[in-house]
Amino acid sequence: MSNNQKVILIGDGAVGSAYAFALVNQGIGHELGILDVDKNRTEGDALDLRHALPFLSPKKVYSAEYSDCADADIICITAGTAQKPGETRLDLVTRNLKILKSIIDSVMATGFDGIFLLAANPVDILTYATYKWSGFPAERVIGSGTSLDTARLRQTLAEKINIEAGSVHGYVLGEHGDTGFIAWSNIRIGNLPIEKWIPDFTDQAKEDFRVAVRDAAYSIIEKKGSTSYGVASALARITRAIFRNENAVLPVSAYMDGSHYGIEDVYLGTPAVIGREGINTIAEVPLNEKEKAELTHSANTLKKIIADSFT
Ligand code: 2OP
Repeated sequence: MSNNQKVILIGDGAVGSAYAFALVNQGIGHELGILDVDKNRTEGDALDLRHALPFLSPKKVYSAEYSDCADADIICITAGTAQKPGETRLDLVTRNLKILKSIIDSVMATGFDGIFLLAANPVDILTYATYKWSGFPAERVIGSGTSLDTARLRQTLAEKINIEAGSVHGYVLGEHGDTGFIAWSNIRIGNLPIEKWIPDFTDQAKEDFRVAVRDAAYSIIEKKGSTSYGVASALARITRAIFRNENAVLPVSAYMDGSHYGIEDVYLGTPAVIGREGINTIAEVPLNEKEKAELTHSANTLKKIIADSFT
């Protein structure tokens, strides 16, 4: 990792530009290059972001070329087509794998040797593909995973019981998508289980909650065409954990090598320890039988997509 803390962002759409602004606004990293097929957009965004710098901390922000990837510390990929109303994340797989392949080939040709951070959907599949195509060790290929779903869970619960979201602990695990699920057995609010806060929290209420968190993106896409601020904030949080070597436990899409959850050869959302080298360890969540079955179902869904799209 260089002292320069350099990020190259590939994909300057709604998510990419929100991530760029989050990095600038939160003073994360020292150098940010923005790359997209739409060069006008990256030049415009870089210039616009530079005008924010006098209010914030100094940073180098510019419209990038692939050659700028060579000595980058993190390459964050948000490029790809986004869901249209009614589409699932998995519906994007063929289109976005094709886009991703040409990006990874171009990046690897520069000799890049840092950390890949993926956010384009379906993120667990694209992160797996990046791991395979780059040949990098799994700890240096990270997906945004269920970081956003977990944020949605924490915020929605926080609003329901009028407690700040920072005091709500717990995770959405599995696919960042329709088979992801809330590990209710591990939810703690200020160290107390959920039943202490909502004594009449029935199974139906839990199910309603799961559906609300699962379908949050669909409602936003229906209303404004895309989601951006939530995932951009999650990406900025992961970037900060890497640059500051925080060893923070964050939910990300991480490679399963068989030593956790009994699941092998797939990327899926789980808490993991994130520091300068990427993923240090998986922080495996103890699950009850129902949750184990849900995670296996999610892993099998992703594995099937991988098997179908990589042949
Ligand atoms: C989201 O969950 C669409 O994956 C994106 O907001």
